[in-house]
Amino acid sequence: MSSKYSAPKGTYDLLPGDSEIVRGIEDVARDLFARSGYREIRTPVFEETELFTRSVGEATDIVNKEMYTFDDRGDRSITLRPEGTAPVSRAYIQNGMHKWPQPVKLWYSGPMFRYEAPQSGRYRQHYQVGVELIGAGDPLADAELIWLQAAFYAELGVAAGLAVSSMGDAGCRPQYIEKLKAYIAGRRDAFTEDQLKRVELNPLRAFDWAGPAEDALKEAPKLVDCLCADCRANFDSVRRYLDAVGVDYSVDPMLVRGLDYYSRTVFEFSSVKLGAQSGVGGGGRYDTLIEQLGGQPTPAAGWASGVERIQLALGEDVEVVIEADLFIVAEQDLDRLTALEVAGQLRASGLVVELDLMGRSIKAQMKQADRLGSDLTLGIDGDNAWLKDMASGEQTAGSLDGALQQITDQVKVEE
Ligand code: HAM
Repeated sequence: MSSKYSAPKGTYDLLPGDSEIVRGIEDVARDLFARSGYREIRTPVFEETELFTRSVGEATDIVNKEMYTFDDRGDRSITLRPEGTAPVSRAYIQNGMHKWPQPVKLWYSGPMFRYEAPQSGRYRQHYQVGVELIGAGDPLADAELIWLQAAFYAELGVAAGLAVSSMGDAGCRPQYIEKLKAYIAGRRDAFTEDQLKRVELNPLRAFDWAGPAEDALKEAPKLVDCLCADCRANFDSVRRYLDAVGVDYSVDPMLVRGLDYYSRTVFEFSSVKLGAQSGVGGGGRYDTLIEQLGGQPTPAAGWASGVERIQLALGEDVEVVIEADLFIVAEQDLDRLTALEVAGQLRASGLVVELDLMGRSIKAQMKQADRLGSDLTLGIDGDNAWLKDMASGEQTAGSLDGALQQITDQVKVEE
């Protein structure tokens, strides 16, 4: 059957089978975050456009090419959130969370929107789970965050490699940027006109580029080798703590991440199972963002992980089948009514109960019970009933009350 409409390019319907897997991923996140002292925050799916241009950065692909921006009916420029850090930082400031006991540890889960060329693992509406740790500047906070992300993947069974680096700070990055600009100026032939223009805005973005630019940058000076003494000591501490808690990582001097708000520690987890879009999740420290958005100077760090990328990294072998505990077979009008009533009672006691809603024959209902993988089938015939164990084929008959008692007893034994 072909439909007149399809989901917009780069979006998809999450169907049963996959929706349980995604729910499972979110449940693991929710549980681990709660055990780690994080509490949930839900921010709007859209924000004022300027929030993102100012935080994510004018020179980034996200702001330049990927935002879903429109004027609302009140002529305000609105953007569907491409990421969660800027909205959470805005919420921290707006809700006076600096008065809460610090640090404030928040997690979120929800859709993000980026107008990217769709491919495996890359969507225009994708889902992220993420955490933001606001108010703590200690390198131990960075280590705890990275540990948390590693623990999240370990609990899910996702094998992902970790790369870390440091973006320096206002003390060392400006000098480095001059060095990098000079290097790029000496290799102009490897860059397009557009890239050279963007280098003027933020030359660090050049590390995101593929093709000749990427090759040329292999030889470029690296920020992680040009850190000031403070940033160097900070990065060394983060690494020492990671070693101490047994989180494996490699230092990747080319790691810059696609957002401009980072300073000092940045990190990314990737999986070979993902192909070109190898990033499963990443994050870093953003110590100047909250002040930049109008709050008090507040150190902060966080990470986010793409739910679809986790699904891909888990592989195809995950299958979720929801099986019924009990299927109720009934044919006569009054019996069907009783079936509905009994289903309600048994569902309230925690059983997965199905019944015929199609007016099928008894034989067809038995087939359906089998298809749904039901453990037991209960047949209702007035005050009488029969109960069949679908695995052994064993069947008993008696009163409906007796059959219901038998079901309840059986469930108690299984518990
Ligand atoms: P990000 O690296 O841009 O970081 O996105 C986080 C994760 O979202 C990526 O690692 C990837 O798994 C997933 N992702 C991004 N774009 C797409 C897409 N088009 N389709 C599918 N998955 C995608 C951030 O967004 C930062 N806010 C993370 C952060 C939190 N930094 C500090 N705190």
